[in-house]
Amino acid sequence: MKWPKVFLLFYFLFVRILSFADEGMWLPMLLAKLNEKEMRAMGMKISAEDIYSINKSSLKDAIVSFGGFCTGEVISSQGLVLTNHHCGFGAIQSHATLQNNYIDNGFWAMSLKDELPNPSLFVTFIVRMEDVTASVLSGVTSAMPENERQSQIDKNINAVRANSKRETYQDVLVRPFFEGNQYYLFVTETYRDVRLVGAPPSSIGNFGKDTDNWMWPRHTGDFAMFRIYADKNNRPSAYSPDNVPYKPKRTLSISLDGVSQDDFTMVFGFPGRTNQYLPAVAVEQLIEVNNPAKIKVRDHVLEVMDAYMRTDEQIKIQYAAKWASVSNAWKKWQGELLGLNRVDGVGRKKKLEADFQNKVNANAALKAKYGTVLPDLNNAFDELKVYGLARDYYLEIISRIELFTIASQLIQLEAAFDKEGESGYAARLPQVKDRLTGFYGDYSPIVDMKMTEVLLSLYVNDQQEKFQSALLRDKLKANQGDFALLAKVLFAETDLDDQQKTLSLLDKPTKEVVDIIRQNATVLLFKDMQRVYQNEVQRTLSPIQDRINALQRTYMAAQMEVFTEKRFYPDANSTLRLTYGKVDGYTPRDAVRYDYYSYLDGVMEKYKPGDYEFDLPTKLIDLYKKKDYGQYGVNGKLPVNFIAANHTSGGNSGSPALDAWGNLVGLNFDRVWEGTMSDINYDPSICRNIMVDIRYILFIVDKYAGAGHLVKEMNLVRPKTKK
Ligand code: ARG
Ligand code: GLU
Repeated sequence: MKWPKVFLLFYFLFVRILSFADEGMWLPMLLAKLNEKEMRAMGMKISAEDIYSINKSSLKDAIVSFGGFCTGEVISSQGLVLTNHHCGFGAIQSHATLQNNYIDNGFWAMSLKDELPNPSLFVTFIVRMEDVTASVLSGVTSAMPENERQSQIDKNINAVRANSKRETYQDVLVRPFFEGNQYYLFVTETYRDVRLVGAPPSSIGNFGKDTDNWMWPRHTGDFAMFRIYADKNNRPSAYSPDNVPYKPKRTLSISLDGVSQDDFTMVFGFPGRTNQYLPAVAVEQLIEVNNPAKIKVRDHVLEVMDAYMRTDEQIKIQYAAKWASVSNAWKKWQGELLGLNRVDGVGRKKKLEADFQNKVNANAALKAKYGTVLPDLNNAFDELKVYGLARDYYLEIISRIELFTIASQLIQLEAAFDKEGESGYAARLPQVKDRLTGFYGDYSPIVDMKMTEVLLSLYVNDQQEKFQSALLRDKLKANQGDFALLAKVLFAETDLDDQQKTLSLLDKPTKEVVDIIRQNATVLLFKDMQRVYQNEVQRTLSPIQDRINALQRTYMAAQMEVFTEKRFYPDANSTLRLTYGKVDGYTPRDAVRYDYYSYLDGVMEKYKPGDYEFDLPTKLIDLYKKKDYGQYGVNGKLPVNFIAANHTSGGNSGSPALDAWGNLVGLNFDRVWEGTMSDINYDPSICRNIMVDIRYILFIVDKYAGAGHLVKEMNLVRPKTKK
């Protein structure tokens, strides 16, 4: 009887405090070695081998990278895939018209033949992974200059890929981990016929929109469903009407029992990019320089879009996805600043660095190897500062002036012609035509002209003159320094804003097209801006960045050698990771405690009829009034969202939240505002991921949309209430 207490004490003292149980995005193949014991102590009922195995089907066989930017999971034996509404949004939007507004009204295929194909969408399974560090780093020495090192590595990677065993329909990729101290190989299978099956209306799938984005308490049904199609042999195939639903190696079972306080949960997916091992100086720069600059440019971008989207329905549809992606990072960066300041991210790093330096200095061998790595990093980041700012400014600005997006497509054609002549041009042309056709569907010259005016004024007014295009400054002078006038002139002297003219230009003979591209005013201006950026920013920045990368690699290796008691996990790099933690609320600020569950009652509390963020469909309100929740409610309430201490990042959207038995209980879609700094500095007290309760999803599919046939495909279980 004494045991549990002693154990708990041990757990809190050693596991929870010393090794930060909730922090970490772990490699699936190393779970047995690094994590399984702790996971079981936290409540896991399955084994590491059940999660990742190369000998039998395991949970990983149900997880896909969705389009390369999100995660999805297979939830039926007929290849049904669950992901977020915001992950499927590009696909949903591409099928939406003013008449069939799937964004506003949702979409449900009532049979297989109604499912909608999406030409550029794909999902990728991980067949297996393997540590190939020794082969990739063979012949690499610490004395090698960076470029020599890289070409040796590239050569080794090619050899590793060529020698690896795989089927013809599989791919092999090799990725660096721990800043290039380790390398892993992945054998993958990519399916390219992925069809839209269903999506709720945006008023459910994106309820609360930007006001609630990155926030808790949350009440969003952020999900959509797709189906993978394969050829008759269940192999990957391009879209074909003859393809059939994919038969998966593994599907996730779905638990209707939900989770409670301190329940063990896992999130399995593809986090994109984190920076957990930066030095203090880099975090300081991000707080003082880079985040504020990027936020400022986006303040303006959003203001321009908003003005037009509010008054024009067509523009609202066209710019919905652009708006969402610009505002998403914009808001996250602000939360990151808040969180880093609150937990004194810089101070923490400085403490860690002092500790590191002391340990290194106390040991002659370590001192010889790593004695100067931190001062060297400090110097390199100091040098980077002004160029890093110029880079962020330039990239934020030019990527939002869409005339330049069009120009860059044409410049690619010109480059193909210059490099490989007529045949290079011909090879490139179909892709450029495709891209431009897709692009113009969501393009409004009126919005773009205003954007050009506003962003070019930032480009000129906020930057040192040496970072600016002289051609642009001349044009500005010729227009009395008036940016509105300048924008008008830039649009008058080009045809690129005109879909018809630009696309029919591409039907002309090659030589003629290339000549016209070379003389186009937008192309000339864009090239001049690129040239100045290349000469004045990139040329200096890139060697500094190379130095930083090499130093980060050394610093990473050094930390692993110096802090031997610590368990390290690699930064996210869009590869498959497992993270785990317990269901728990948190204290965002003094005297406030957040609960870990939200309910449909809370959706109704936020409801604002006619509002663009908080309106609701009548049918949902009716179901609420009748409390018609079927098997998805608990004690007269319908669970909607919940939070837990899983260490997730962008790319984990659409990842399954799994219970102790590996059943699907939720769908990851966000993090809480106070904790978005977890990409840089995870803090177990305030970092939480946000998930949609699977019962809310099934309720919407079944009761709201009347698509119960989809629920019938799934395997529903009750691990807690029925055995
Ligand atoms: N913040 C979440 C993520 O990073 C959700 C974004 C989609 N939702 C939105 N309201 N824009 O991607
Ligand atoms: N919404 C994010 C995504 O698109 C996931 C949330 C996060 O960044 O943690 O991947």
